[in-house]
Amino acid sequence: MKNQVVIRALQQALETDRLNGDLWLHLATLQREDGLFEEALSSARTAAEMATTRTAGRKLLVTLLREAGRFDEALMRAESLLAELGSEGADSRELRSELAIIQTARGQTEEASELLAGEPQAIAMGPGDEEQSLADWASQFAWGDLKLSLDDVVGLADVKRQINLRILAPFKQPEIFEAFGRSGGGGILMYGPPGCGKTFIARATAGELGARFVSVSIHDVLDKFYGESEKQIHALFEDARENSPTVLFFDEFDALGAARGTGSADSQFWKTLVDQLLQEMDGVGDQNRDVLIFAATNMPWNVDMAFRRPGRFDRVLFVPPPDLAGRLELLAKHIKALPGSGGINAKPIAQNTEHYTGADIQSLCQRAAERALDKSLETGEVHEVNQEDFVRALAASRPSSIEWFGTARNYGRYSNEGGQYDELVTYLKSVKKW
Ligand SMILES: Nc1ncnc2c1ncn2[C@@H]1O[C@H](COP(=O)(O)OP(=O)(O)OP(=O)(O)O)[C@@H](O)[C@H]1O
Ligand SMILES: [Mg+2]
Repeated sequence: MKNQVVIRALQQALETDRLNGDLWLHLATLQREDGLFEEALSSARTAAEMATTRTAGRKLLVTLLREAGRFDEALMRAESLLAELGSEGADSRELRSELAIIQTARGQTEEASELLAGEPQAIAMGPGDEEQSLADWASQFAWGDLKLSLDDVVGLADVKRQINLRILAPFKQPEIFEAFGRSGGGGILMYGPPGCGKTFIARATAGELGARFVSVSIHDVLDKFYGESEKQIHALFEDARENSPTVLFFDEFDALGAARGTGSADSQFWKTLVDQLLQEMDGVGDQNRDVLIFAATNMPWNVDMAFRRPGRFDRVLFVPPPDLAGRLELLAKHIKALPGSGGINAKPIAQNTEHYTGADIQSLCQRAAERALDKSLETGEVHEVNQEDFVRALAASRPSSIEWFGTARNYGRYSNEGGQYDELVTYLKSVKKW
């Protein structure tokens, strides 16, 4: 237990800075060194949820799972991360050799050597994988250990108000809801540029209710359960009903629309999957008011209109980048955790970060801290971060939401049927640049 003291210090730091992915990642590494596998797993899971340490956290998870002998989960996670990373880059290379080790451990030596020969697409499924259900699989991504509440979500007053009215209130006071002849059910679909807090809000809602949080990426479902997805979707909802309250979160929801209408065998498969999901959602109101459904997408225009009917995703919420006040609050949070924070004025930084997403602001702060961190590591003494560091970091960074708004503007302008993008349009009007 050579890292005991540092681990305790990190845990203390994390109490006031729970969203600092780098700290979580560091903690996981030290816990791993000390042989604290469950603890390390939990910390790595948290790091994997933070935008800035998403890849590093997920990679570490794979290693930890492999070391703990949990090969099935390790394999699945490695595959899905590899699919995201593609075959280029150091991360991908490292991950491929990790995968090869796992496959060798499972006796899949042929696949392992193919993989090392540089063919990431030739990954074979092990015999155990076929029997695994989506519910088992999804619960591996369930969120248990980090307690968030809606107070942790900065700004986004409209979104929080809708969640309060549509999700929290009916859950807490079903009698009132029923007195108005409502049956509950239905879900909330969130859309907006990446990194503005969609996943974060869904998790915070689950935390608020003390509910289980089960996150399902539609891309992963399509990859892993192709051809048997309807049964799997049913099992997922059954599992949620049995273990309620559960927040079911469907990420990358637009993936469901992508291959529709191609007229191939694919399109039949898609139709079955979509129909099953619709059926489960329609059933949710009566059978299980304690299953709450969220979905998120960056491309709402690709989401099938059938999902927009009453009782399904009848609330579609736009999750914009933080406004000036929101940026100030986010900056203050991140800056507070840095040495020298007392000497940093967040206001000019907030004024110069229009269109920055929450995730952008987080990485801006990390970038600003890099010089002081390097110096500290070199000298063994803590160096402070200063205003100049932020000026330099600002000059070297760019808001990531601009591109998304470029596309979204056209949909807001030319396909705003039924006012579905009114919130987006209002937002665009409020921003001078557009
Ligand atoms: N309004 C906000 N309040 C607090 N934190 C935020 C907010 N917006 C973004 N963040 C931070 O940015 C990170 C990224 O947000 P999140 O993963 O929820 O974005 P997302 O909208 O789901 O993005 P994607 O579309 O890429 O999935 C969060 O982990 C959180 O730390
Ligand atoms: Mg997300």
